[in-house]
Amino acid sequence: MRYSEIINTLKIVKDMIYKCVKDGQVVVDCTVGNGNDTILLARLVGKTGRVYGFDIQKKALDITKESLACENLDNDVRLIHDGHENIDLYIKEKVDFIIYNLGYLPKGNKNIKTNKDTTLKSLRKAINILNDNGIILITCYIGHEGGLEEKEEVERFLKSLDQKQFNVVKYDFINQINYPPILYGVEKSKTRRE
Ligand SMILES: C[S@@+](CC[C@H](N)C(=O)[O-])C[C@H]1O[C@@H](n2cnc3c(N)ncnc32)[C@H](O)[C@@H]1O
Repeated sequence: MRYSEIINTLKIVKDMIYKCVKDGQVVVDCTVGNGNDTILLARLVGKTGRVYGFDIQKKALDITKESLACENLDNDVRLIHDGHENIDLYIKEKVDFIIYNLGYLPKGNKNIKTNKDTTLKSLRKAINILNDNGIILITCYIGHEGGLEEKEEVERFLKSLDQKQFNVVKYDFINQINYPPILYGVEKSKTRRE
């Protein structure tokens, strides 16, 4: 099967990152893992921007630090060894873009995974630090234990957001087997100044 545009969630996420993330922005990777998104974000925000990255696995952060060094990316990347539910303890400024790739690290320990309670705690805080026209992308996986419950909590929360303040979109490959990931995108509207 060959498609060129609507290929998979990963491609949609990547396209959105390229479209939304700009030089000089402050952005957050809430699930660093192997650092693929962190590295792309670092490249796109450049020397004048800043990337915050969270992961509860130190190994993931170490791998990402090494990859950044290998690519000579000495941009302002702050890798934080803590859960994204504590995002407010580390980020004291407004941010333009936040990404979550939930679940467990592929080829890693499947027992170390995001869960509905901490994800929701984090999302509630993330919404508050988002700049006008800021974007949040959340990829949910439902094939593993706890994944469906997590996705349902995420969706329930996103559905409750006031449409005057946020636009929320859902991408779901509804004719695919094997539980394809589901992507949510959130954009905060520009605050009207009277
Ligand atoms: C699907 S992986 C992320 C993959 C990553 N985006 C990449 O490019 O490789 C999910 C990651 O979330 C991390 N994680 C689990 N719970 C977390 C939490 N509460 N806060 C931050 N990271 C968490 C896991 O350790 C794992 O590395």
